Amino acid sequence: MGRMRGIAVGLCVAGAAVSVLGLGWFSDKLYTRVRPGELAYKPTDEMPPRVDMASVQRDWPASFSEPGEGSRVIAYHRDMRGRAPLPVAGGAVVAAPPPDLGTLLASADAGVGKQKLQLCASCHDFTQGGPNRIGPNLWGIVGRPVASHAGFAYSPAMKGHRGSWDYGVLFEFLGSPGRVVPGTKMSFAGLRKPEDRAAVIKYLATLGSGAPPLPQPKAIAAR
Ligand code: HEC
Repeated sequence: MGRMRGIAVGLCVAGAAVSVLGLGWFSDKLYTRVRPGELAYKPTDEMPPRVDMASVQRDWPASFSEPGEGSRVIAYHRDMRGRAPLPVAGGAVVAAPPPDLGTLLASADAGVGKQKLQLCASCHDFTQGGPNRIGPNLWGIVGRPVASHAGFAYSPAMKGHRGSWDYGVLFEFLGSPGRVVPGTKMSFAGLRKPEDRAAVIKYLATLGSGAPPLPQPKAIAAR
């Protein structure tokens, strides 16, 4: 009798275990489960390629609920993954901050930039006194006031974007024209790599004499 009871209890326990596992299996079929270590969302190409870490830290986590903040943080992490760690005194390792524009421009190769302009040549002419095409002539564009080339019908969005094409503005614009000037009719996705943008801008600065001097590379702060 004692043995029978033992078997009965055993069967009950086994039955319960099977139902629990079965339920788990069944609910897995019903719901998609996000496994830890796997992002439920995928970073997209619209994300800002470079993120100001200082502002991410300052804003975290209060502004994390705002639209776009999540993308900035993800983009930051993606950006940092690609960077070599920088050894510091004391043996700790920190990620190198993204290079500033002055540093990027100093190491940029204008020759490479000239080649990259093939990406723009279907829409832009780069010669002095050259024609407007789908986009305006870009001779002397660095330092030129935005939407100021004679004879080109700019979009209202571009006309409303004030200021001049200085280095920083061009750098942001060429990274994602539609994000920096929403509604622009320049249908070009942008140059993703900061190095490519710097090279293009360095070459553009050689066209004409209106370009301001290149920004100075920032000294890396001593830790
Ligand atoms: C598909 C065509 C197209 C391509 C490719 C293109 N652009 Fe443009 N671009 C335009 C158009 C159109 C405008 C005018 C935008 C507006 O008015 O909204 C423009 C405007 C600009 C302006 C602002 C000019 C001004 O006078 O204010 C700059 C700078 C510029 N483009 C640079 C580039 C560079 C550099 C490339 C290549 C990396 C490039 N574009 C590729 C079509 C193009």
